[in-house]
Amino acid sequence: MKRFHWLLSTLAALVLVGACGKDNPVPTPQPDPDPTPVIPPESEPEKDPLALWGLKDLASACGLMIGTEFTYGEYSDDSLKVVMKRDFEAVTFGNEMKNDQIVTNAGQFNFTRADQMVGWAKECELKLFGHTLGWHSQQQNDYLVNKLVAGAADADEAAALVRDFHKKWVDAMVGHFDVYGWDVVNEVFIDSGAWRNKANSQLSNNYHVFFWGDYYPGGPKEFVDTAFRTAREALEREGKSAILYINDYNLEGGWAHGKLEALCQYAEGNPDVTGVGSQMHTSGDLYSPSEMKNMLERMVKTGKKVRISELDVASGKKMSQADVILDVFKQYLDIVPEAQRGGITFWGVSDKNSWLGANKQPLLYNSQYLRKDAYLKLHAYLLERSGLNKK
Ligand code: XIL
Repeated sequence: MKRFHWLLSTLAALVLVGACGKDNPVPTPQPDPDPTPVIPPESEPEKDPLALWGLKDLASACGLMIGTEFTYGEYSDDSLKVVMKRDFEAVTFGNEMKNDQIVTNAGQFNFTRADQMVGWAKECELKLFGHTLGWHSQQQNDYLVNKLVAGAADADEAAALVRDFHKKWVDAMVGHFDVYGWDVVNEVFIDSGAWRNKANSQLSNNYHVFFWGDYYPGGPKEFVDTAFRTAREALEREGKSAILYINDYNLEGGWAHGKLEALCQYAEGNPDVTGVGSQMHTSGDLYSPSEMKNMLERMVKTGKKVRISELDVASGKKMSQADVILDVFKQYLDIVPEAQRGGITFWGVSDKNSWLGANKQPLLYNSQYLRKDAYLKLHAYLLERSGLNKK
C-alpha cells in the first residue's frame, strides 16, 4: 500500500516538473477560493447632525428661509454671533429701523446705529429685512409730527405737512437700506377688521403713538394706499427690488377672523402689495393648529408672498412650545407653495432678550444660549424633511 502511494506521488512530481518546463509559464496564482473575510475599513464615526447643519441649512434644503431678530445691545454677546451665523439666513432689527430711532427731533434722519447693525448682519452673512415704514407706535410723534400739526395754520395745512413728511421718510428709508423686503405698514387693522385709529385702539400705553390715517382725507385706507405707492415708486427710482408687505398680529387667532379677511382682501385689491405678513406672537395655550391652517390657506389665496414675521411661542399648558413650533413649520411647508414662501422669522434668539421677558421662554435658545427642546425637535424635523441625512 505504502509502495503504491510512493509511486503515485513520484508520478505526480514528474508531471508537475514537466508542466513547469520553460515552454509552460508559471500559472498565475488564483484567488483563494475561501479567503479570510476582508475586515471592513473602520466604519466612519457617527456624525452629529447638530454639528453638521445649522437650522438655516436644513430650512434652505426644504425651500424655506429662516430668520431672526436682534437689537443693538445684544450684539456684544459672542454666543449670539455664533448662533446668528450658524442658524439663521435673515435678520430683522428689533427697533433700530423704526421711526423713533432714526428720525431726530429736528426732522433729520440718523442712520448711524442702524448702519452699524447692517455691518454686523453682514459679518454674520445675514440677509436684511426692513421693519417698519409705517406703524402707529414707536414714532417720533412727541417732538416732530405733533409739532408739525401744532404749527400748521389749519387742518389742511397740517395734513399736507404730515403727508409730505411721511413721503420724505419712506423715500429716505428705501433709498438708504438694501433689504429683501419691507413691512410697509404694520398693524393697520383692529381684530374686527376695521381700520385702526386713535378711537378704536385699546393701546396699553401711548408710547410715541401717531395715527397717520387721521391726516389723509380718505382716512387710514388712503394712508395705506399712499404708503405702498410711495414705497414702490421709491424702489423703482432707486433701481431696487423688495417685497412690500402688509403685516399684522392675531391673524392666527380664531378671534380675529375679521382682521385676517380685511388684510387679505386689501392685499388682493392693491397690486403694490406683494406680501402678507403674520407676526405670530403666540403661546401653547393660545395656539390652534386648525386656525393656523385657516390663516395660511387664506393668505396663500391672495397669491402674494406669505411670511411669518415675528414668531415667538411662550410655553403653555395645552401644547408645549416645541409642539407649536413644529406645527407652524410643518403647516407652513405643507400649505405655502415654494414660490410664495416669504420665510419664517423668529422674534429673537435667546429667551433672555425676548421682548416678552425671559420668564415667558418663547425662543429656541435658553438664557445661556443652550438649544432648547423646541430647537432640537425643529432641527430633527427639518433634517428628516430635507432628506440631507440620507444623502
Ligand atoms: C417690539 C420690540 O421687540 C421691543 O424691543 C420694543 O420695546 C417694542 O416693540 N410687533 C412689532 C414689533 O411689529 O415691532 C414689536 O417689537 C413687537 C410687536
